[in-house]
Parts: sequence; structure tokens; C-alpha cells
Amino acid sequence: IACPVAPYTNDDENSFAYTSARSRWLTILTGVISDVKETAATSDVEKTAEAEGIIEKLEILRKELADLAALVPLAEDGGPDIALYNSELKRQTKSVPMTYGNGPWLYTECYLYRKIYSYFLASKYWKGYDIYARQKLDAFKQSELAVVELAVRYKNLSTQLHGDISKENLGVLFREFIDISLWGNATDLSLLTSLSLDQLQSLQGEAARRESEKNILVNNVDKAWAAVSDTTKYGRVDIVLDNAGFEFYTDMIFALFLLDSGLAENIVFHPKSIPWFVSDVMPVDLGVLVNALGESSFFTKGREELDYLCQQILQYSGDGKIIMRESPFWTTSLPFWEIRDGGLGGGHEVWEDLRASKLIIFKGDLNHRKLVYDSMWPRTTPWETAIGPLATSGLTVFSLRTCKADVIVGLPEGKEKELEEAWIASGKGTKDTGRPGIGWAWSGKWAVMPFTDGGKK
Ligand code: F6P
Ligand code: MG
Repeated sequence: IACPVAPYTNDDENSFAYTSARSRWLTILTGVISDVKETAATSDVEKTAEAEGIIEKLEILRKELADLAALVPLAEDGGPDIALYNSELKRQTKSVPMTYGNGPWLYTECYLYRKIYSYFLASKYWKGYDIYARQKLDAFKQSELAVVELAVRYKNLSTQLHGDISKENLGVLFREFIDISLWGNATDLSLLTSLSLDQLQSLQGEAARRESEKNILVNNVDKAWAAVSDTTKYGRVDIVLDNAGFEFYTDMIFALFLLDSGLAENIVFHPKSIPWFVSDVMPVDLGVLVNALGESSFFTKGREELDYLCQQILQYSGDGKIIMRESPFWTTSLPFWEIRDGGLGGGHEVWEDLRASKLIIFKGDLNHRKLVYDSMWPRTTPWETAIGPLATSGLTVFSLRTCKADVIVGLPEGKEKELEEAWIASGKGTKDTGRPGIGWAWSGKWAVMPFTDGGKK
């Protein structure tokens, strides 16, 4: 389905797309190359030899990116989505060839991650290799303080949750866990190219969350609460995941809370099937999470609470109450307007599956960009307009997103101007573009939590 509003593109100097294409992606690709070299250095002879070919291709790609070269159709690598990527390339190419420097931000960025992975997928020894696993785990380790803080909070609560607890109190807790999961998104690794690990830690604790509450620009948590606490519905809650490590940990704690409290009977997590936007959760990351939490040399503090948490995760997973469900749809470049009857690229199957859910939570910035087609909507556009067919799809959609990209909708009149002025006043404005106050929108300091019931009566 086409969108009536034009997309953000990489030649727009007022968009974060501009620097993403010219510097952030290069840094990410450089990181990928050194990761492969590091792994190859301790691999056996054949695997190392194959790595040489992969590195060569990655270096060519890096050069193409640095030159802002034209995008060429992806080569076959056995993946189910190649034809779709190539037909989208054709469809989205306008009168001039699409380059990394001028193409639509969403398409070119998805294409890049897909292209990087195609070299691995087409190989013999590197097929399932997660080029970002090392970084994901390192960053998770740095999150120890906040990890333990939350584990203690969860254990204290979970005993009470099995007892008698009023609906009102449950509602208060629901809001708190939503908040935790929301701000868990503030620290994804694709942005760490410009964020230090000190900054990461200061974003994670309870004090930081309280402080950030005023920065939630759109907050429909009450509507989400009404949807989840409706006991007349079958209790399945879906979480379309974003990042591994700390964010996934917060999502998991939220899932445990929903199960412990009886608000949900099942949780279905939706991970990515290939390494994606650096830090996104892949199916293997569930095991990685449990192992990290359960390993006393990984997190040395809060052992009793962390062991309890692990036991809960294992129990619920063993009972089939927490499951991971893959779909190739999540790693296409398609907007979520394709989650519909007859939707492309797996969108139809996802739509059919999600219809059984009473609440579908979309985590993070990229999922949010896809919900609203990554188009240049005026920021006062109603959310229900920007999500297109999802507004009447019958799906209950709740997006938890800290803003790391330009697209933002649902703001009241005058708010955008106020935020731009405040950004300039704080000294963070850029002087070299037509709109120096614009950077607040992708700083990760603000958040939105819009909801739709999909037109259900
Ligand atoms: O804007 C920076 C960026 O890395 C985008 O490329 C991407 O949309 C997003 O942030 C990734 O963030 P998240 O992990 O929250 O989806
Ligand atoms: Mg991500």
C-alpha cells in the first residue's frame, strides 16, 4: 500500500537520515569488519579462509557507502525476501538512481543491514553467525547496576502478585512496568556510535525514569491498561521486540509481571531472524539472556534475585507460556501498513497471527518508524492517520518508543516549536542546517506511547 506523504530521505540535511548515511553507518560497518576479524582469528582454517572473502566484500561495501554509491539489486543468497527487496528497490527508485546519499532512509537502512548479512548467509561456515553478539553482551554486562535493581524489585513484587491484589494496585504496577520497558529502549547499540557507556548507565536507573516522565509526549497508557485488564478476552499479549541486552531484559520482566498477575495467559515475543540494526533480539538471545543472568561470574551482585528470575523465565518458557515466534516480515523494508489481509512479504501471516492477541506492543524506534511509514507527516498528524490501515485492522496496537528519528506524530499544536526552541536554548542546537532546533527529535530523550484499538467496538 502506498503512502500519500513522501518519506524521509538521506539527502535531507535537516533529517537524522543525512548523518546516518554519511557517518553512523560507516562506523557500524567498521565494527562489523573488526568483529569478523576477531572471530576468524580463533577459528579453524577453513572458517578463517572463508572469512577473508566475506571481509573483502564488506570492505567493498564500506567503500560504496563512503562514496554514497547507487544501490544495486541484492544477489540471491537463499533468503526468502531477496525478490521483495529488489522489487521495492525498483518501485522506490524515482527519476534518478537510488543512492545511499539520496534514497529513502527506511529502505536504504534496511537494505544495508540485509546486504551485510547476505555475505554470511551465502557462506558455508558463517551462516548463523551474529556479527553483533559480542557488542550486545558487552553492553548488557555494563548494565549490571540497573539489572540488579530491577531483579530486586521484581522478586519483591512477584510474591505479592500471587496473593490478593486490587485491580487498582495492579494498574499502578502495570504503568510502572510499561515505563521500565519504554525507557529500556533508550539504549540501543545502533546509536551507541554517539553515546558513551557512562551515558548508558545514567539512562537506566529508576531515578532516571522518574526524571524522564515529563518527556513522554504522547501517553496512552490508560487505554492500554483498559485493553489488557479486559478479562473477557483471551489473554495473549504480543511483544514485537527491539533490542537485546538491557531492553529485552526489561521486556522480559514486564512479561513475567503480566503472567504472574494473570493479566496475560501467554506472551508471544517476535524477534528478528537475522542480525538487525546492530542490537535487535534474535531467537538465540533468549538463551543468551538466561545464561547471562544465571552466570554468577557475569553478574556478581544480586545473585538470589537473579537466580529467582531465571527460574521464572525457564518455568514459563518450559510451560509454553513464553514463546518466540519468527517471521521474515520483520526484516523486510516494508512498513507495518502491510500487516493486513493480503499484506506483502509475510504481512498477511503476521496479521492473521496477531488477531488472536488482546494487546500488541511494538517496541522501539525502528518498529515505530515502520508503523507510521517513516513519512514526513506534519507532527500534529493524528496517530490514527499515520498508521493507515492499522487504525481499522481490528488489532490493538501500543507503541513504546523513545524517539531516535525524525518522524513523530500526535503532538498538540505549538509543541514542536516549543521543543525546538528549548533544544536551541540548551545549547545543543546545530548551526549548520536550516532548522537548528531539530535534533531533539532523534536525541532519545523524548518518548511517545500511542495506542489504537484498531477500530474494535
Ligand atoms: O535513528 C537511529 C537509529 O539507529 C535508526 O537507525 C533506527 O531507526 C533506530 O535508531 C534504532 O533504534 P531502535 O533500536 O529503538 O529501533
Ligand atoms: Mg533496535
